[in-house]
Amino acid sequence: MSCEASERIIVALDGMEPEEALFFCRQVEDLRWVKVGLELFVKAGPDVVVQLRDQGHRVFLDLKFHDIPATMAGACRNAAGLGAELITVHACAGSEALKAAQAGAKDGAETTGVAMPTLLAVTVLTSWEAQRLQRELVIEQDITERVSGLAHLAATAGVGGCVCSPLEVATLRAHHQEPFALVTPGIRPKGIALGDQARVMTPKEAIAAGASQLVIGRPITKAEHPSEAFAECCAALAM
Ligand code: C5P
Repeated sequence: MSCEASERIIVALDGMEPEEALFFCRQVEDLRWVKVGLELFVKAGPDVVVQLRDQGHRVFLDLKFHDIPATMAGACRNAAGLGAELITVHACAGSEALKAAQAGAKDGAETTGVAMPTLLAVTVLTSWEAQRLQRELVIEQDITERVSGLAHLAATAGVGGCVCSPLEVATLRAHHQEPFALVTPGIRPKGIALGDQARVMTPKEAIAAGASQLVIGRPITKAEHPSEAFAECCAALAM
């Protein structure tokens, strides 16, 4: 992956209508990567991935697949065929499902003649807290331990990276060197409102901790001048 700052930042297209999302991406100068999540995908359908690609954008398809192996394989085959280059799966689907997902993605990419995407494993959603994990799912491990265990499971199954909170990046990077991808949301440039993100890092701190790419949404999408906000995030990385 290029080390250029604009390649490191993935803009999350949340809360937008499909046309608005496409228009927004065309307006932001030098924007390379965008994240299509469940909200936009359910409204716009797979076409939005193809349209974004046709506009020259690279797509992180964040649908967090978690199912039986055959279904994971089929979903990843189809996602790869759309040209999504990063695709999320839940690590707790287990090694057999993760391997099937990898194989499905490879098959989809080869059949369509596109590059093999990188699958990213989701470990523990940050909306969980330890006490509730214990009470509701009878999981006794502390969250850091569980995140590390699930990241290890994903890496062993051949998955190319993880999505993690900025505060987990350094620990995971110590065990998983590049090219294992660590993609992190929870990024707030200096002086920007935290909103509902409590545990955040600045773009520069997260990259220094070992993140390969950053997901940034509202600090760019809700900025008065999104192009400038994006450029400032890139500049902060280049400094
Ligand atoms: O607007 P903001 O920069 O907070 O957006 C971050 C994006 O990353 C959103 O799409 C959000 O759903 C996602 N995300 C997150 N925290 C996680 C996992 C995903 O903020 N732990």
